[in-house]
Amino acid sequence: MSDRSRTGIPNSLHEHWMPFTSNKDFKENPRLVTEAKGVYLKNHHGKTMIDASSGLFCNPLGHGRKEITNAVAKQLEQLDYVQPFQQGFGGSFELARRISKHTPGNLNRIFFTICGSTAVETAIKIVVAYHKAKGQGQRFRFVGRERAYHGMNIGATSVGGMINNVKTFASILMPGVVHMRHTHLPDHKFVRGQPKTGVEMAEDLERICMNFGSENIAACIVEPIAGSTGVLVPPKGYLKRLREICDKHGIILIFDEVITGWGRTGSAFASQEFGVTPDIITMAKATTNGVVPMGAVAVKEEIYDTVMDASPKGAVELFHGYTYSGIPVSVAAALAVQDIFEKENIFKKSKEMSPYFLDGIFSLKDLAGIDNIRAYGMLAGIDMKLKEKPGRAGFECFKACYESGVNFKATGDCLIIAPQFICEKKHIDEIIEKLRKGISDYSKSR
Ligand SMILES: Cc1ncc(COP(=O)(O)O)c(C=O)c1O
Repeated sequence: MSDRSRTGIPNSLHEHWMPFTSNKDFKENPRLVTEAKGVYLKNHHGKTMIDASSGLFCNPLGHGRKEITNAVAKQLEQLDYVQPFQQGFGGSFELARRISKHTPGNLNRIFFTICGSTAVETAIKIVVAYHKAKGQGQRFRFVGRERAYHGMNIGATSVGGMINNVKTFASILMPGVVHMRHTHLPDHKFVRGQPKTGVEMAEDLERICMNFGSENIAACIVEPIAGSTGVLVPPKGYLKRLREICDKHGIILIFDEVITGWGRTGSAFASQEFGVTPDIITMAKATTNGVVPMGAVAVKEEIYDTVMDASPKGAVELFHGYTYSGIPVSVAAALAVQDIFEKENIFKKSKEMSPYFLDGIFSLKDLAGIDNIRAYGMLAGIDMKLKEKPGRAGFECFKACYESGVNFKATGDCLIIAPQFICEKKHIDEIIEKLRKGISDYSKSR
């Protein structure tokens, strides 16, 4: 068997321990993807499926973009690697400039990382370094939120709030982390866009300040829309209120925009969409259209300046970085992505397609197996009615939909739908039609 066909359909499934996967179930009945083009994937049975979650929310420009492939190939030919410590290459500076044109306010200093998790961990370290530089080293507490997903290294797991991701590792998580309640309320049933109720959930931050001493709190981190847990859209006024409380107490506000960044809400960042400017934004995924790993942290100029000013010239100001921080291949992909964002007016495209997508998603409301739908922009969460034990309905429904030709990410009992921004109306129709069939097939099979 040639190498090519061996990677298409492997001889053995035993050796690879798959991430976030029910390995035993998968290896009995694998789902292998062999090709990806535009909005379509092909699996190892030769069946075509529509990609309804842009991979893992990372390929909004569609699969197999020649502009990106060519830019990556060209970069590898010319300069395949340069160590990013005490050295550099022009591309990463150019990319930082291009990114900073899209970030809100003066979040114009960009630190490159490898992925979303490392972006979050970097943000945590930058916050600690900033407070120390300001003479407020006692600020060690981080405030996260229930049901948050920020990635899987220790820092990101600690501030995250999805119970299955946390409980096995409780003994080794960061000390001093406190969680606000999540914002999903019982009356948020089938709400399209931002719920009108629930702004008061932001007062949890004020309460934590009272209970733990605001002078000890370093930062508050939230996803503007909690994505991986099942698309919890922030109540109207909620993010603004968090901003006010952070300002009052000198707390840094971090928006984790690893999913919402780069157009998912219809604006470059959810920050602009909801009119609230944090002090730090983390991003990854769509930064390279998902084709090579890259994350980034956009930081307010004042934070950068404070850290810089605390060290004498010639000293390393922040003892942090990665072998793959802003390496040429990732930068080349990200620059090509920036070009496509501009040339194809991608954020506008996302905004314009959103109402059609939302109409389609909410048209599924009549299906008996569905318990709730939440959605904003080009992102939707469909809660399945709980069956047997938590997570079962979501997984079984995901498999039924895979059979009906639509692929997406399911978390617990929630199906998360995030179409690519290059989708035309006919693609949205296809996603909805196949979801309807898959969900109905799943319900019939119970
Ligand atoms: C909001 C958010 N932050 C961080 C991460 C972690 O990103 P990565 O898997 O690239 O480490 C994710 C991944 O889904 C995410 O949704």
